[in-house]
Amino acid sequence: MIHKQLKDFPKDFLWGASTSAYQVEGANLIDGKGPSCQDVKEIPEGTSDLTVCADHYHHYAQDIALMAEMGFKTYRFSIAWTRLIPEGTGAINPLGVEFYNNLINECLKHNIEPLVTMFHFDMPAALDNRGSWSNPESVDWFVNFAKVMYENFGDRVKYWLTINEQNMLTLVGPVIGTLHVPDGCTNLMKEIYQQNHHMLVAQAKAMALCHEMIPGAKIGPAPNISLVYSASCKPEDTLAAQNANALRSWLYLDMAVYGVYNNLVWSFLEENDACPTFAPGDEEALKSGHPDFIGFNYYNTSTVKWTDGNTQLTGNQDQQTTRGETGFFEGVDNPNLLKTEFGWEIDPMGFRATVREMYSRYRLPMIVTENGLGAYDKLTEDGKVHDNYRIEYLRKHIEQVQLAISDGCEMMGYCPWSAIDLISTHEGMVKRYGFIFVDREEFDLKTLKRYRKDSFYWYKKVIATNGNDLTD
Ligand code: BG6
Repeated sequence: MIHKQLKDFPKDFLWGASTSAYQVEGANLIDGKGPSCQDVKEIPEGTSDLTVCADHYHHYAQDIALMAEMGFKTYRFSIAWTRLIPEGTGAINPLGVEFYNNLINECLKHNIEPLVTMFHFDMPAALDNRGSWSNPESVDWFVNFAKVMYENFGDRVKYWLTINEQNMLTLVGPVIGTLHVPDGCTNLMKEIYQQNHHMLVAQAKAMALCHEMIPGAKIGPAPNISLVYSASCKPEDTLAAQNANALRSWLYLDMAVYGVYNNLVWSFLEENDACPTFAPGDEEALKSGHPDFIGFNYYNTSTVKWTDGNTQLTGNQDQQTTRGETGFFEGVDNPNLLKTEFGWEIDPMGFRATVREMYSRYRLPMIVTENGLGAYDKLTEDGKVHDNYRIEYLRKHIEQVQLAISDGCEMMGYCPWSAIDLISTHEGMVKRYGFIFVDREEFDLKTLKRYRKDSFYWYKKVIATNGNDLTD
């Protein structure tokens, strides 16, 4: 659709940016924090561990002041389960409560709305030892964690996100360092989708509890959603794209919004003897969630073709590179798209297409909880970072958000990844995303001093003009 006149961004649009606790905070085992699965995982070779990260734990006030200088309306961060409840269940860590109280109060002091992710890839190690999400008790563990957060922070936090990228936890858990495989497991797919089922039930219960405990609060899921294209106009490739979209995205949103399993995914699981077992009460619990909005991360689309089930699928798969599922779909490169330095395709127009599709399926307001460009930024001798490539990337994506709004889609906000440089899920500190540069290298902590990148000044102007001026 070509619009003669674009609609403005809503007046109360939540401009901001995102981080996650285990990637930004550091201080991973101090002041009473227990280890999470991220602290005990095997760190990918050549990348930093998570002991210091951006040291946000000790610099949060300075960091939030910088976000305020950019004009942030919201800051999306996550609460580390093990900082609050070191063993995952049981005793609460008072210093953990204090830290998040300080962080939240600091945001509010600057009129920044806290947008809190409850779980961002960091299962307590103590609960990993008890089976992680494969243990049916994990539902209660998570709901208890949610209750502790609502009790301690619900008087000030009005926007909540449940589980970050549950679809990536399920599809690429080993890359992120979260997959827990119990001894004696003989059907890995069944195991993974049982864990996924427990997360879905936990999420639905946490959403219902939020509405019960915090009147007026809003809560939503935060999967990674992006359209999967068909490699050609061959009918069989279209079927493959439908399969991939269902397995990658609609499973999670059909469940969060309607409380039912996507039929294509359920058939696929049946074919693989991998259907999850429902505990008594699960069916009702899944239907009781009712999100107020959809949070979603978008980096790029993917493309697939038909597979007859005889091709053995090999090769890399991370959050953004789709390899496929034998007999269901096979991932291919999209020759129409450029790639980032780290090999992720760049597709701003696919962003608009994704938003349009989501809105027509779910009719809920949406907030972008991640979007951004990982790059090898360089600090110049005079303390500058000329990241025009990031400005270009973000500008093209924000343009598409406005087009989607003009298409009639309801958008609440935009929070790119990331507010400040932090450690990537598996590609270290060198893969930077922030508006704020942190002076450290992969293994040399240097000064940890903060520098404003060129994108910092640009985003400040974008926010000040409510998205009307995207020039640099
Ligand atoms: C998302 C995650 O998958 O993408 C973030 O929610 C992550 O935690 C971001 O950092 C970028 O991915 P990566 O692998 O470049 O760190």
